[in-house]
Amino acid sequence: MPRETTIHTVFWQDGAVVMIDQRALPVSERYVACTDYRQVIAAIKDLTVRGAPAIGVAAALGIALGARSLAAETAPQFNDAVAAICREFAASRPTARNLFWAIERMRRCCDRALAALAASPAPIAGDPFERVRQRLVAEAIRIGEEDVAANCRLGQAGSGLIPQGARVLTHCNAGALATAGYGTALGVIRAAAAEGKILRVYADETRPVLQGSRLTAWELHREGIPCTLITDSMAGFLMQKGEVDLVIVGADRIAANGDAANKIGTYGLAVLARAHSLPFYVAAPLSTIDPAIPCGEAIPIEERAADEVTHVGPTRTAPEGIAVWNPAFDVTPHELITAIITEAGVIRPPFPEGIGKACAS
Ligand code: MRU
Repeated sequence: MPRETTIHTVFWQDGAVVMIDQRALPVSERYVACTDYRQVIAAIKDLTVRGAPAIGVAAALGIALGARSLAAETAPQFNDAVAAICREFAASRPTARNLFWAIERMRRCCDRALAALAASPAPIAGDPFERVRQRLVAEAIRIGEEDVAANCRLGQAGSGLIPQGARVLTHCNAGALATAGYGTALGVIRAAAAEGKILRVYADETRPVLQGSRLTAWELHREGIPCTLITDSMAGFLMQKGEVDLVIVGADRIAANGDAANKIGTYGLAVLARAHSLPFYVAAPLSTIDPAIPCGEAIPIEERAADEVTHVGPTRTAPEGIAVWNPAFDVTPHELITAIITEAGVIRPPFPEGIGKACAS
């Protein structure tokens, strides 16, 4: 099996949720310790932690953190308070399916733990909800561990699609930083690199938040995987010059028909890949798939603040008062996707059947 990277994105340590501050990379490698669940919500909103699976893991750990400071007299009171915390997390960012998937898992864990408490034959000494809190912490840690394992499996599955000497283009950051570890699109690249198949990775800069230049380039560079940084608008010319063999990206939410929401600019790349007859792969764990959403049009797309577009860092690069449209994601129609790579294997069209089977597995 592939090895985990040494990048620790988000984890539980001494009763706190600790995360690498992704806003500070690549200039500074610093960690933030959240001791209140509201700090975790703020970190999701301000992109201290970002990337669909990492957001899900952060939320799970944050819910466990919130539950630790809950005082309740009765099980319904405890349950209502956990539900309220979950609602706050659900309002943090709208697009990543993994966030809602993790919240649902934490809710189910809480239900089961409270039911076990109710079924306990003997009265429990001390605070009876301590057992529930411990189970929530354990479940959140497990969600993170399972994410790393899923990424390693999907990396292996996806590596089979990568030819020897491949020149791969990727967008945004779907690496260890976007997950609990190893990465999805970068997980496939890592697995293929370990087999000596990667000649070069082209990393799109990814305007406006620069996840490609700040994070993907940092991850690949520190591991010695050959990487060339380009601005988003250079991808078409690079393909036209015959320098790209395939495109691989992550996803924030995949609909039942295979339409995939990912970082803004992904759709344009898929169109370019089709125009140049290049394979376009989406790599994501099953926790990114939303079988309840029939097609991409129904995926909620986050719109972010105008200053991400009008400024580069603290420097204004557009006139005061200019109108701005800043959707954080776009949707690539399934017709443009060659295959979806998951921990359950590679899903090829027709996607509805393959997705249905993978989700049932
Ligand atoms: O706004 P972000 O940085 O959270 O967006 C992240 C992406 O779009 C990633 O490509 C996606 O979450 C896949 S991560 C494995």
